[in-house]
Amino acid sequence: MSDANYFPYLHGFSESEQQRLREQAFYEEHRIYQDIDFSRIKNLLEVGCGVGAQSEILLRRFSKLHLTGIDLNDRQLASAKEYLATLPYAKDRYEIKKMDAQNLEFESNSFEGAFLCWVLEHIPHPQKVLNEVRRVLRPGSKVFITEVLNSTFFLDPYSPNVWKYWMAFNDYQLDTHGDPFIGAKLGNLLQAGGFQDIKLSLKNLHFDNRFPDERKETIDFWTDLLMSAKEQLISEKVITQELADAAYQELKTIASDPNAVFYYTYVQAQATVI
Ligand SMILES: C[S@@+](CC[C@H](N)C(=O)[O-])C[C@H]1O[C@@H](n2cnc3c(N)ncnc32)[C@H](O)[C@@H]1O
Repeated sequence: MSDANYFPYLHGFSESEQQRLREQAFYEEHRIYQDIDFSRIKNLLEVGCGVGAQSEILLRRFSKLHLTGIDLNDRQLASAKEYLATLPYAKDRYEIKKMDAQNLEFESNSFEGAFLCWVLEHIPHPQKVLNEVRRVLRPGSKVFITEVLNSTFFLDPYSPNVWKYWMAFNDYQLDTHGDPFIGAKLGNLLQAGGFQDIKLSLKNLHFDNRFPDERKETIDFWTDLLMSAKEQLISEKVITQELADAAYQELKTIASDPNAVFYYTYVQAQATVI
């Protein structure tokens, strides 16, 4: 697949999805950036910048860096450009380019750091991407990669329709050459790509009666995430409208259940180019 405009991208490229990506970035900012320090980096590559949601955070948090964001989809690129142009602190500090992450059009040793978030899961050949990222990074550069591990999702009370929907969601991503379990494989991929000093950290979202507000917020956010794939899954005949409606109802009920449990873990890898 050479052009993400025709890529069977699970979440689609609608305006509401673009807004969801920005909200998702703010929502997870404190966990995703907990261990990331790009304050000494001048020249950062962001692979799969989407609508600029993480680009905004990177430019805000690290005032010295210049960011080059690449993505393959025209609508995401246009949205990222429009969004970043509204931010005074981003002025003259970024470039947004159309490019396939599997075939980067940069000279070797071009960047001092790289950032990838929720991208490899959508790409048919993630190893190619990491090989390319390594090629364009200078020795001493760090890469941070944040990825899903969808087998970790758990909800209580047990919700059979959410579960069926979730299985269909993951099966569809696998069938369309993505990988909803790629978080667990980041260590292998980075090692095979020749990266050194590889460290993995698990980001746990475990919300129960100890954290009722975060639990409700997370389940609402999760409902939007799951439903963002609904049209695509229905049009591909992977699920029915009835299943989507039933899963939605279960999620709404659980969001106000005083004893609900939400659990999900994702993975962040960091590694160095020697
Ligand atoms: C879920 S979005 C994540 C965007 C952003 N990193 C964030 O966290 O908000 C995944 C992005 O990867 C892009 N993408 C998919 N395949 C790609 C490829 N081969 N090369 C570059 N970008 C790609 C999609 O167009 C989409 O914008």
